[in-house]
Amino acid sequence: MAEQTHRIGILGSGNIFGRYVTGLARYPELNIVRVGDIDVARAKRGAAEHSIPAWGDDADLYADDSVDIVVNLTPPVHHARTTVTALEAGKHVYVEKPLATTVADGEAVLATASRTGRVLGSAPDTFLGSAAQTARKAIDSGLIGTPIGASAFIGHSKAETWHPDPAFLFQPGGGPVMDMGPYYLAALVNCLGPVATISAAGRIGVPERTVTAPGRTVDTIEVTVPTHTGAVLTFASGVIATCQMSFDVWHSELPYLEIYGSEGTLSAANPNHFDGDVRVRRHGDGDWTVLEPALELFGAVGTPEQARRGLGVRDLANAVEGGPHRANAAFAFHVLEALCSLEGSARERRSVTLTSTCERPRALFTA
Ligand SMILES: NC(=O)c1ccc[n+]([C@@H]2O[C@H](COP(=O)([O-])OP(=O)(O)OC[C@H]3O[C@@H](n4cnc5c(N)ncnc54)[C@H](O)[C@@H]3O)[C@@H](O)[C@H]2O)c1
Repeated sequence: MAEQTHRIGILGSGNIFGRYVTGLARYPELNIVRVGDIDVARAKRGAAEHSIPAWGDDADLYADDSVDIVVNLTPPVHHARTTVTALEAGKHVYVEKPLATTVADGEAVLATASRTGRVLGSAPDTFLGSAAQTARKAIDSGLIGTPIGASAFIGHSKAETWHPDPAFLFQPGGGPVMDMGPYYLAALVNCLGPVATISAAGRIGVPERTVTAPGRTVDTIEVTVPTHTGAVLTFASGVIATCQMSFDVWHSELPYLEIYGSEGTLSAANPNHFDGDVRVRRHGDGDWTVLEPALELFGAVGTPEQARRGLGVRDLANAVEGGPHRANAAFAFHVLEALCSLEGSARERRSVTLTSTCERPRALFTA
């Protein structure tokens, strides 16, 4: 893991910012030296609250020679342009999910990283946590036999009840597919390899949402992206996954993610969390068995620690030093293409074949 000190500039000091700052504080080699936001007053507040020595607008951050790595926490529609600008300014970049909001923008970001020779990584990083690695270890060791199918269910994150400005989550670049889908697709691709084809249908459940979050800056949101989507994903391996991604399901008893193999079923933890129980039930078992975590836990399950971020930034810092890069750009791009294809399939009412592929990221556990 990372050995030298990396100087981090955080771009965007909104809702998730504090969770990155507290998460990154776990790693002394990752030193936050500046925060930049187009809302400079917000950047100044964030810097003061967390004793970050410098703040300013976005241009100040790109121009700061003391920043090696930009952690991009802007809203999704800004990811591509801001990431390209940061790469061109000579920074390595870790960008929140999704990598971009269109395939064309994702390609432009990848091309810029390649041209500038900078390291580009992207969220989600939850697949680096103990739960996803435990699931991967179970599958790789043949515990459920040959994977045949999978199910993934995304229920409503209820963002209008807790996010003060959740409009972006109900507009293109948001919705359950682009907002929560990255966690589930990353978990599936990490376990099962790349996706080959997708068929989907989608609709807007409720065209106007009421915001009830404390400190809200808007009272209602016009919904302009499908909020209820059903899809069938066929993986290159032949595995068929059924996915429901919805901001219209307020309550459900469906599991987060299950993988069905020739010898048994694996029930994964919430892909939005680093840790959680991973259970297996093989044919003939009288009950489910909770697997031993394949890695040390990120934080206490069921506490706000699970919402902290930082593993992906540490992964990028490690790659800057020449180590393996797991939450890498090719992986994030494939996940993005799958999500865009899912939305495109629903919009155009046809099956979509993906053009990209990727390697499964190198496992973190020892076999
Ligand atoms: N909020 C969460 O719980 C959460 C969880 C996981 C991931 N994320 C991801 O984190 C990212 C940010 O989400 P958020 O909820 O913090 O959003 P937010 O709207 O609360 O904050 C975004 C911040 O970025 C700033 N900004 C906008 N455009 C900018 C630009 N061009 N340059 C610099 N700053 C700019 C805004 O002024 C704002 O302060 C998104 O990609 C989201 O998907 C959020």
